[in-house]
Amino acid sequence: MEQPKISTTPIAEEGSSYQRWVKSEGIPLIGGFFIEDIQKVELAPWESKGGLGARICLDGTGETNDAYICEIPAGKSLKPQKHFFEELVYIISGKGATTIWNPGGPKRTFEWQEGSLFSPPLNSCYQHFNGSGNEPARYIAVTSAPCMVNLIHSLDFIFNCDYVFKDRFNSEDDYFSKPGTWYSGRTWQTNFVSDVRNLQLLEWKERGGGASQVRFELSENTLCGHVSQFGVGAYKKAHFHGPGAHVIILSGQGYSLLWPPGQPIQRYDWKPGSLVVPPANWFHQHFNAGAEPARYLALRWGSQKYHEMWGEGKGKTDIDVKLGGNQIEYEDEDPKVKQMFEEACAKAGVKSTMDRYYKKSQ
Ligand SMILES: [Fe+2]
Repeated sequence: MEQPKISTTPIAEEGSSYQRWVKSEGIPLIGGFFIEDIQKVELAPWESKGGLGARICLDGTGETNDAYICEIPAGKSLKPQKHFFEELVYIISGKGATTIWNPGGPKRTFEWQEGSLFSPPLNSCYQHFNGSGNEPARYIAVTSAPCMVNLIHSLDFIFNCDYVFKDRFNSEDDYFSKPGTWYSGRTWQTNFVSDVRNLQLLEWKERGGGASQVRFELSENTLCGHVSQFGVGAYKKAHFHGPGAHVIILSGQGYSLLWPPGQPIQRYDWKPGSLVVPPANWFHQHFNAGAEPARYLALRWGSQKYHEMWGEGKGKTDIDVKLGGNQIEYEDEDPKVKQMFEEACAKAGVKSTMDRYYKKSQ
């Protein structure tokens, strides 16, 4: 019987399949915990997209999902795309249109603007067009590319698979214009949100701090999103959940605290355009230390319809840790949390409004 060969080269190439793929695309891969301003991230020519781009895989994703920023030059369109991973698109600036189709099927086109949110359905064909001849259009997308590329590790399959997911998108002519459905838990199933910055939100008193929220279920995805807002001079309760929640600040000034249980706290000061991804099972807490309500968009795992991908803690993130949940009530906080917030408010010339929430919480 023939003996196995002896190899002197390592069994694996350097980096994950996902990291090697991003490298082969010739664009930067940005890591870390935080990006101060997604509007200002430096982009490189991105041949396979036909625009400019950078990929972002922050530590808090655990390389389960990622984000990328892409710019469509003025008067141009990107190349047609198709891929076997999910993708949620948020328009940072500019206006334009997207055409989506299944191979051989009719083309469906809709227009978008700054603040729009949508998702090309899994493995559908799509193309983005800049609607301005003078200004570039920039978007950020959160995708499931890391887990899909790492699991399948065949780029040919990821980008050239012919399967049509008719259960997600069957060429419906009103796919991106129908009103959708509201479910309990502040959840809107829709395939297009015109402007998340101005959407009316629903009260979420369990999270404290005058919180309100709307959750989105888009294009039958496992990825999902939500918009949250909290009041002037207020902060929300600390909580933890699974990896990959990309928190994009839409309005307001403040900061977030991140810490693994029992470990030192890290602070990240934010403004509109900042991006932070709290790592899996790290406590995190968002603070509005500015004079306006603070609003953010979170693009993440944890769809209510197709849930529990990465221990997202379905239904537990706003329940007291003392009752088996994932949230620290105000009265159980480290007193330094409140002290730091009052100092931040004083520095910004804002009065803390937290007394009313502490009382409600007790
Ligand atoms: Fe969170």
